[in-house]
Amino acid sequence: MTTSPLYVPPATESGAAEAAELVRQLAAEGHLSAEAAQHRGREIAGELAATGTYRQSAEELLLGSRIAWRNNPQCIGKFYWKGLEVRDCREAGGAGGDEGALFEALVEHLRLAWNGGKVRLLLSVFAPSEPDRPGPRVWNGQLIRYAGYRRDDGSVLGDPASVEFTEAVQRLGWRSRGTEYDVLPLVVQWPGREPRWFDLPPDAVPEVRISHPDHPWFERLGLRWHAFPTISDQILELGGLRYPLAPFSAWYTCTEIGARNLSDTNRYDKLPEVARGLGLDTSRDRTLWRDRALLELTAAVLHSYDRAGVSIIDHHFATKQFVRHEERERKSGRDCPADWSAIVPATSGSTTPVWQRRYEPTRARPNFAPHPAPWASGGAGD
Ligand code: ARG
Repeated sequence: MTTSPLYVPPATESGAAEAAELVRQLAAEGHLSAEAAQHRGREIAGELAATGTYRQSAEELLLGSRIAWRNNPQCIGKFYWKGLEVRDCREAGGAGGDEGALFEALVEHLRLAWNGGKVRLLLSVFAPSEPDRPGPRVWNGQLIRYAGYRRDDGSVLGDPASVEFTEAVQRLGWRSRGTEYDVLPLVVQWPGREPRWFDLPPDAVPEVRISHPDHPWFERLGLRWHAFPTISDQILELGGLRYPLAPFSAWYTCTEIGARNLSDTNRYDKLPEVARGLGLDTSRDRTLWRDRALLELTAAVLHSYDRAGVSIIDHHFATKQFVRHEERERKSGRDCPADWSAIVPATSGSTTPVWQRRYEPTRARPNFAPHPAPWASGGAGD
């Protein structure tokens, strides 16, 4: 078991300390009286000693998940941490391991998060790992992502970041449609069982076509992106428990799409096409054609999401909110763990208030921790 790529340690010795710490923290933040905290602490310790795990209350799950988000150093959107909604999916799929039921619960997550375009901050928490029984997981890094196909000449059709995953699902029998924006299937796996893949229904995958407010030709580039991200390869580490499937949806910041996904040279690499459309001289870097194309592409993303009525945030507003969050945290007597390179936006960094600030990427628990990729070692699950 311990060599399995799916194995995530459940409550251990340090698990008991983490559980006690969570209860202490909830009390310190005013959610439990000192007396209730003592009682709950003893109850958990007893359950852990008897079974090696314990069941968290709905409130522990909700409040603890919010703190996990607040503790995550990678996220610029933490201003909204108290607004996180948590769906309790711990029973989804039952004890027998029904992949189809898990898939349905994930589709439901996407529909709820989409919310007609007013994207919700939504975390769905599935069964935790228990002694000798890791919890279920998905292989996908995000629930909605586009396939990447390596061609014989080494170039890639679609998203180069997905090439390995795409090859893995093709080995499982999934057939590509061969377009630049093929939505990947979800690969669901219960411990000890073979992974199964499922195609997402189109209504669970809202997308936005990218057009530009001033350039009608822009739409003809055929660029698009999915409406919101849903991170699905992070383990929720909460109070000594590990939840290996805890997909997290939120709205986008425009730079993630315009200044990374569609423009990075090892992603969709669209700046040369955009620059040609804009009539820029691309023969030398010195003309700053990349910079100009990047700005127009990011403006197009913001415009298109707005026009489609889909929540999206710009990097100026996002960074201002982040600084307000830091100040609020300081007033509450807390530090704000952050990774500067993840907080500073991919463009115009120096025009935002986070540029001049310094951050400590301290890792506190509860938190989210990345999952190792399962397909590399075959993902047999036992
Ligand atoms: N950068 C990732 C992407 O482009 C998403 C990361 C999370 N972003 C967010 N706005 N919650 O898909």
